[in-house]
Amino acid sequence: MSDAIEDIREEALSALEQRTDSDSLSDWHSQYLGRRGAVGRLFGTIGGLPPEERAAFGQRVNALQKDLGAAFEEREALIQSQLLARDLEEGEIDISLPAYPRRRGGLHPSTRTHREFQTIWADMGFQVYQSRDVEEDKFNFTLLNLPPHHPARDMQDTFYTTDPRVLLRTHTSPGQIRAMRELGAGGTKPIRVILPGMCYRQEQVTARSEIQFTQVEGLAIGRNIRMSDLKGTIAEFAKRMYNPKAKVRYRASYFPFTEPSMEVDVECFLCDGEGCRVCKYTGWLEIAGSGMVHPDVLRNGGYDPSVWSGFAFGMGPERITMLKHGIQDIRYFWGNDLRFLQQF
Ligand code: DAH
Repeated sequence: MSDAIEDIREEALSALEQRTDSDSLSDWHSQYLGRRGAVGRLFGTIGGLPPEERAAFGQRVNALQKDLGAAFEEREALIQSQLLARDLEEGEIDISLPAYPRRRGGLHPSTRTHREFQTIWADMGFQVYQSRDVEEDKFNFTLLNLPPHHPARDMQDTFYTTDPRVLLRTHTSPGQIRAMRELGAGGTKPIRVILPGMCYRQEQVTARSEIQFTQVEGLAIGRNIRMSDLKGTIAEFAKRMYNPKAKVRYRASYFPFTEPSMEVDVECFLCDGEGCRVCKYTGWLEIAGSGMVHPDVLRNGGYDPSVWSGFAFGMGPERITMLKHGIQDIRYFWGNDLRFLQQF
């Protein structure tokens, strides 16, 4: 009986040599290794053997099954590569056919604006500093001169986590403190950074306000930074971003973290200041909040305000994107409607 194993091995291996395509190869597989194949039948005879022979016999059938399996795989690989070689030889694959067009994703309109911003600010020597979306109340408010119960906290309705000390940042300004502390080396080094990122406010969602939006914060700290640096820098940005002749104007304003503070308008780039619907016939578009970094904020960032000074600004890329493309509703930005997004 034990010769049956060797007989089957010999027979199977020589039959395998004859198989040259995948159909006959899979026939071979069912004939020998399939559920009702020759090897299976050998396993079936174990029960009829004298008990002392069963173990040895079983082991040999196992070995046979393993060997045939390996031989099968080897043959299969060989046949595959022969088929491929033949196809290539006979030219069945026409490599001159044009490929299927690859579907390409587009960049989100805000991402595009951010990249434009980043390029311009990088050319002007500003590095990108990535701060965090989940912030501490302390950084988002207190260290920016907005102590608890400060009325200006109401300007920004906040999403808190279950821990009231932790929130989603309502603006990118808390990154100012982090950048100063991290890059300022204990208030000894000048810095020039922009801080782009998502901000969150608990607001009624309307065509003009969303619960999430992006901002780009800017911060420059040095020994001799003055208001004229801020004005010149923003004017230069506006020229590069909007138009080389862009006029800029500054209006006095209030932010707790800057003193003095101002809002920046650029001449409407849609009507060149003539007055149109977009600029509400004023000829001007508001592009940023800005100011000289408040001494307390400098101190909170580790700088001595009697030696160091700085300017800061905050801009809203979505607004700029909306103006540029005539987008009427801010909800399109994060609504994930591909019909909107694919236009960019
Ligand atoms: N953080 C302000 C806001 O979200 C914007 C802002 C104003 C940022 C003045 C600044 C600044 O850095 O100097 O409304």
